[in-house]
Amino acid sequence: MRLPANLIVRRKGASEDYPCQVCWLDESYLSQVEELQAYILETLPHKELYFPLSSTELVNILTRQDGLALGAFVAERLIGFGAVYYPQDNEDNLGRDVGLFASEFKHVAHLEACFVHPAYRGNRIQTKLGELLLQQVLSEKEYRHLFSTVMPANSPSIVDKFVQKMKIVALKQKYNNSWRYIFYRDLWVEEDFKERAAVPVPSSDLQQQLTLLNRGYQGIGYRKTGTGLEILYDKKANGKNKILNATLLI
Ligand SMILES: CC(C)(COP(=O)(O)OP(=O)(O)OC[C@H]1O[C@@H](n2cnc3c(N)ncnc32)[C@H](O)[C@@H]1OP(=O)(O)O)[C@@H](O)C(=O)NCCC(=O)NCCS
Repeated sequence: MRLPANLIVRRKGASEDYPCQVCWLDESYLSQVEELQAYILETLPHKELYFPLSSTELVNILTRQDGLALGAFVAERLIGFGAVYYPQDNEDNLGRDVGLFASEFKHVAHLEACFVHPAYRGNRIQTKLGELLLQQVLSEKEYRHLFSTVMPANSPSIVDKFVQKMKIVALKQKYNNSWRYIFYRDLWVEEDFKERAAVPVPSSDLQQQLTLLNRGYQGIGYRKTGTGLEILYDKKANGKNKILNATLLI
């Protein structure tokens, strides 16, 4: 596995930059990851913004049994975490939510949890970790379908998923019945959203987004407004997709 990266980050309220090392994590980092995750939960303005990974899920990812994880460190202290999860045939495979054929489940990767210490937010660490994780996923060749869930109120994570060339294909009640966008990217087919006309909808307007998604629209981008984000919706391209069943087309 390729060695990841060295970043330069700025601490909130400080004027100097700090070197930040990015490393692949193994099970020896479990307690540090759990400690940071607990701190993130404690300091969240809305508890529904982040649904934590259980110790078992973390161990399975850190031991590379069903995923991989990166850590960002400043002065040898963990300040950021990002993970990919390979759900295979598990119940939580997001392919099930969008009608992906079961034979494709083994090709699914989830961009899973990511969290950054509040003092180091604003450095786009989520996107940097995501890019490194995706490079690794792409190098493994067997993964084609990239999924991720994001809460509509989580602006930095929405921005991040669009930067990773993903699109919104569904909006569903997931963890504890909390609403989540389901983001998707076909890693084997490049999609160009640039020239497409789009309908802007505030990310807080769930009803209009559900209506558009039910009519075959997809969220292909965003724009920042003074108060948050608008999601740009466009009708998905026609054409049969052979890897999906009849219910929903990615
Ligand atoms: C989500 C999280 C990891 C992002 O941290 P980060 O990588 O430091 O993200 P940044 O603060 O640099 O923001 C990334 C982008 O979102 C934008 N953004 C952040 N907050 C925003 C807001 N309220 N409205 C609009 N855009 C916003 C930033 O401007 C930036 O956009 P840019 O790249 O165009 O400049 C961090 O907020 C976190 O740990 N949150 C708690 C856990 C969580 O929610 N994890 C995600 C679900 S798994």
